[in-house]
Amino acid sequence: MELLSENARKILQERYLIKDAAGRSKETPEELLLRVAKTVAQAEKKYGSQQGVEKWEREFFGMMSNLDFLPNSTTLMNAGTGYGQLSSCFVLPVKDSLSGIFQTLRLAALVQQKGGGTGFNFSELRPSGDHISQSGGQSSGPVSFIRVFDFAAEHIRQGGKRRGANMGILNVDHPDIFEFIRLRTEGKRLKNFNLSVGISDSFMKALEANADWNLINPRTGKSVRMVKSGVLWSELCEQAWLSGNPGLIFLDTINAANPVISIGEIAATNPCGEVPLLPNESCNLGSINLTKFVKTVEAERTELDWKKLGETVEKSIRFLDNVLDINKFPSESISKASLANRKIGLGVMGWAELLIRLGIPYASVDAISLAERLMSFIQEKSLKASSRLGIERGSFPNWEKSVFFPDQPMRNATRTSIAPTGTISILADTSSSVEPLFALAFQRKNVLNGETLQTINPLFLEMLKSERLAEGKILDQVISSGTCTHIKELPGKFRELFRTALEISPEWHLRHQIAFQKFTDNAVSKTVNLPSDSTIGDVDQLYRQAWELGAKGITVFRNEAGDQQLLYRGIKS
Ligand code: CDP
Repeated sequence: MELLSENARKILQERYLIKDAAGRSKETPEELLLRVAKTVAQAEKKYGSQQGVEKWEREFFGMMSNLDFLPNSTTLMNAGTGYGQLSSCFVLPVKDSLSGIFQTLRLAALVQQKGGGTGFNFSELRPSGDHISQSGGQSSGPVSFIRVFDFAAEHIRQGGKRRGANMGILNVDHPDIFEFIRLRTEGKRLKNFNLSVGISDSFMKALEANADWNLINPRTGKSVRMVKSGVLWSELCEQAWLSGNPGLIFLDTINAANPVISIGEIAATNPCGEVPLLPNESCNLGSINLTKFVKTVEAERTELDWKKLGETVEKSIRFLDNVLDINKFPSESISKASLANRKIGLGVMGWAELLIRLGIPYASVDAISLAERLMSFIQEKSLKASSRLGIERGSFPNWEKSVFFPDQPMRNATRTSIAPTGTISILADTSSSVEPLFALAFQRKNVLNGETLQTINPLFLEMLKSERLAEGKILDQVISSGTCTHIKELPGKFRELFRTALEISPEWHLRHQIAFQKFTDNAVSKTVNLPSDSTIGDVDQLYRQAWELGAKGITVFRNEAGDQQLLYRGIKS
């Protein structure tokens, strides 16, 4: 595994390799991948021969050790260990009773302990101050329970490896919506929750008409207050501008694409937003490293290796479907819901790096058309692969109640999802997900031990060398600022290619998200970076555009707006 970078080895050593009681690693990175490949190939036994197990063990090991594909962190950490929970994404229901709330919290603790992230919609909870019949008292409301969940997550820390991530959602018609919107900036700050407002099409239409909007008590179904839709929206945009929270999730857009709508409506996503799920469903993810699919065709000309990409998609879908069969789910309810639809999420990483290697600037129409071509290809190959598995192994149990019935056999209700790839992109030594490069030189803070890792983008170094550009002076400038667009010694094209996240306008960020979303079954996790001088009006416009263009959700992040910025541009000595 000479492909692994120093950072990758460090992370594997700290968090992924199995250790003995004294903290010494019991496996090498190669052995880790072999452990994962062997465990995931075991699922073949259920459907075929021992030969199949050996063949797929080799195939799975091959694509992981080439860094062509990596499954989500939980699979890397837990496959073949006592834990065995291999999915990263969960949504749990929150019922309007004290015992229901704490049953869910217990389950969330178990999920997080084993590396999973949990999303919840708290809208079924009666509002604060509402009547409680048993005690004659008053309810404390969803916001105070979110605080309880946050406090619990702070103490779970995913087996000591990382913090438990959560998504808290409240619908736009809940009476406590204003309190929820201000949750990130008022009182003691939440540490382990992303927050999103669940937005309906009817709210967006009320907003367009500047109409009044009813806040409804979920216990009685009756309106308790009328507010101006525009006032609610302005408050929401201001809070997002201040802190990056709340984001939005567009519930009607999500349910229009829900393949098993007859089973139920989706009300929540996992923590980073890429997987809308029914209550108790989980989803396991994996991502293809796009930089491994570039080939040189003529002397200096590079293009995508579509054939190899198609083959890798097919193998990855099989891998992710196998994971479902060997997964140890944390409860019977989660096992039942997850296996009924067999949702999986194949995504990509290294998109920004791929564009640079192909000589296409991120902020360009060419990048958007390639995004659409690429993702429609991946989506189509995934659909075919899952359909073939449906014929080979049987369609998912709810298939007869799904949009695929009766014409198309299908093994998995959803197949694609664009995850943030926060850790696996470091293991693969490439840019994360479909995000632009964050910086050319940066320090990354390890949230667990406070240590900082410093890096200069290796692709930048490689391209400087190949263009025979004088390194010394250029690197000094890159190190102090984290960017290169101001360096006059560099050719214009070079500066254009290496534009970083904050030098790309929010509109281009959103266009990339939409291009990938068009061809993704689940959703796209994307942060739209805003420069520090952007206004509340900019957030307002982006949030509206996101809905109009068909995004399933949106998150903005204004530079230096929040308290959780883990990446810093430029290296401060
Ligand atoms: O790169 P890696 O597989 O570690 O994860 P990711 O792609 O950054 O995140 C995928 C999903 O894992 C998130 O949407 C969360 O559901 C979950 N996650 C989590 O629970 N806790 C974290 N600290 C990071 C991710």
